[in-house]
Amino acid sequence: MHTDRHPASVDVWLLDPSTTPIARIAARATILAVLGDAERERAAALPEGQAARFVTARALLRAVLGERLGVPPQGVPLSARCDVCGRPHGRVRVGVEPPLHVSVTRSGPLLGVAVCADGPVGIDIESSLTVGAAPVADVALTPSELARYRRLPATERASSLTRLWARKEAVLKALGAGLDLEPSRLDLGEDGRSACVLGAPAPRSLGRQAAATGSTATARGATSPTATAAGAGGQYSERGDPGIVLADLDLDPGIAGSVAFLAAGGSDLAEPAARGLVVRVHDGAAALAP
Ligand SMILES: CC(C)(COP(=O)(O)OP(=O)(O)OC[C@H]1O[C@@H](n2cnc3c(N)ncnc32)[C@H](O)[C@@H]1OP(=O)(O)O)[C@@H](O)C(=O)NCCC(=O)NCCS
Repeated sequence: MHTDRHPASVDVWLLDPSTTPIARIAARATILAVLGDAERERAAALPEGQAARFVTARALLRAVLGERLGVPPQGVPLSARCDVCGRPHGRVRVGVEPPLHVSVTRSGPLLGVAVCADGPVGIDIESSLTVGAAPVADVALTPSELARYRRLPATERASSLTRLWARKEAVLKALGAGLDLEPSRLDLGEDGRSACVLGAPAPRSLGRQAAATGSTATARGATSPTATAAGAGGQYSERGDPGIVLADLDLDPGIAGSVAFLAAGGSDLAEPAARGLVVRVHDGAAALAP
């Protein structure tokens, strides 16, 4: 059994679009010039506000990867191919060896990119204003999560739901499933410390690599939930399977962000806390500055 216990390491760059004029940044020819043809086509098809965020997030991703790989941003081999329709969207992939895993969040209050050499990663950032305005609790929680949510004092519900939703989306991205796996089938357990996928069949994109049992995670004082993905008939949870590790980002009140790491090489489940998660947070605006 593979018993690599060094903590997984994820680098995260955050950019605040309310203090960084992303519309102006995104319109800059120098930024657009670093994108690939498929990215420019996607940007052209998006509504203006979304296009600015998409372009800025991709430019940021290319900037940090270019720095890491020692190539110009436009030379970073990025691609995406949807498992469902085959079109160039979905999980972003970096065509390098050894593999480098990335994740993007661009729809919330902060833009974020995560980069990890240790295995698949997912990042999500949510605002309680947005989550509170959507029927998240009714459609995205499992019955036991909903019961726990309803037992919370009214004053704690919005922040709790926002954190839970950010964790769920981070896990869904790390698994590569996105919303093809109904969030109401992903149970993060009491205090978000464990997770399983309820019901059958498990989505194709999960595959057996989604089998997961996690360990302790820390990121800037965040709570340290663990996750165990169990698929159809519980067959996705076996001793010796790789694990999902979640870390919450330390963000402003009203904003929740999480990073999920899917261990690729397996872990020693006799000591599930042996593998931690170190998340280093960097200034995205500085990384994007010329
Ligand atoms: C992934 C998803 C959960 C993110 O939702 P969100 O909170 O609204 O958006 P965010 O800004 O946080 O994240 C968007 C990023 O998630 C990433 N992403 C999308 N699908 C993903 C997947 N299956 N696995 C991992 N990451 C994914 C992308 O990088 C995307 O950014 P990009 O379009 O700029 O590349 C959700 O949008 C989703 O599953 N979308 C795809 C569902 C779908 O339409 N499937 C069938 C398509 S034919």
